[in-house]
Amino acid sequence: MRAIHVKSYVSGPADLTVTTLPSPTPQPDQYLIAIHATATNFFDLLQIRGKYQHQPPLPWISGSEFSGVILSTPSSNPNPQFKKGDKVFGASQGGYATQICAREEALRPVPKGWSFVDAAGLMVTAPTSYAALVTRAGVKRGDYVLIHAAAGGVGLAAVQVAKAFEAIVIATAGSKRKLEVAKGYGADYCVDYNKPKWEEEVKKLTPKGRGVDIVFDPVGMVNTSLKCTAWNGRIVVIGFAAGNIEKVAMNRVLLKNVSLVGLHWGMYAREEVETVGVVWKGLFDLMEQGKFRGTVYGDRQFSGLESVGEALGMLGRRETWGKVVVAVPQERGSKL
Ligand SMILES: NC(=O)c1ccc[n+]([C@@H]2O[C@H](COP(=O)([O-])OP(=O)(O)OC[C@H]3O[C@@H](n4cnc5c(N)ncnc54)[C@H](OP(=O)(O)O)[C@@H]3O)[C@@H](O)[C@H]2O)c1
Repeated sequence: MRAIHVKSYVSGPADLTVTTLPSPTPQPDQYLIAIHATATNFFDLLQIRGKYQHQPPLPWISGSEFSGVILSTPSSNPNPQFKKGDKVFGASQGGYATQICAREEALRPVPKGWSFVDAAGLMVTAPTSYAALVTRAGVKRGDYVLIHAAAGGVGLAAVQVAKAFEAIVIATAGSKRKLEVAKGYGADYCVDYNKPKWEEEVKKLTPKGRGVDIVFDPVGMVNTSLKCTAWNGRIVVIGFAAGNIEKVAMNRVLLKNVSLVGLHWGMYAREEVETVGVVWKGLFDLMEQGKFRGTVYGDRQFSGLESVGEALGMLGRRETWGKVVVAVPQERGSKL
């Protein structure tokens, strides 16, 4: 197989190279999958530089999210959920490759009518946004929901989930193009958060200027967002894309009766596994009803593992929107 095999940390994605390796041997509880598309994530950029919280011992294969076709089922499982030839998407270390081994819990079936490219970026962002808004913030019809970095991976998923629950979405982003994209996915209002006093603009969009009911924050904007949050507002902390972990003015949290909650999707599999199924059921229902579609960056196409470095570079420079996905053409001789 071919893969981006990291033998030593690199200074940036331009230094990544594709090498040929023996096909991986699945553990008895693992499937072997032929990868047809792989999605990029910001944490891949940290990991190739040795700066992520999960660093496997070198050498390892970079990448995580993928979609593809089952080549073999787990030898220890007589009754596997997927069979040879099934289309799946998932996430596991080593997504920048033509083949990967993964356990059943790391896989889901490609939704009906979805392409490999669309499905490749579903595993991390879609459930994060659904769990944040539905499980943690209890989004409901008529809520005013402020979604920061709304054209990013989790942002575009959040816009769709909030709209599916009939909320009113105020999207923020840092460029005209990104605001346009958020609008295309259903945002009701768009605000450029690079403009000074953007929070006043947000407040004016809410009834009697009361502020928003829910803030979805993958950037690190809690302090300013508290200024445009309504009484009983809920703020969900998703991430720190701007690179700064805030110290929050807790007096504002108290004065407005605000609930400030975190969401760590990856930990649900360990701490609250029953919720994982509930969240995915909710998402698959939305997909079936046509209320949730793929968010693949469409201003440019990427194909072949050789283009992963460029795709990651553009992601890191904030030049993209949605999920940046690389199609993985099948190796010569492959029948799937
Ligand atoms: N809590 C969880 O379980 C969980 C799960 C998945 C992801 N996350 C986190 O959520 C955050 C967003 O993830 P994502 O997949 O949506 O990433 P993404 O697709 O790269 O989007 C991040 C967005 O953040 C905005 N941004 C603001 N300041 C930035 C900066 N200094 N550098 C880069 N981007 C900046 C950019 O939008 P503008 O250009 O419009 O400003 C960008 O579109 C990350 O921190 C990620 O680690 C958390």
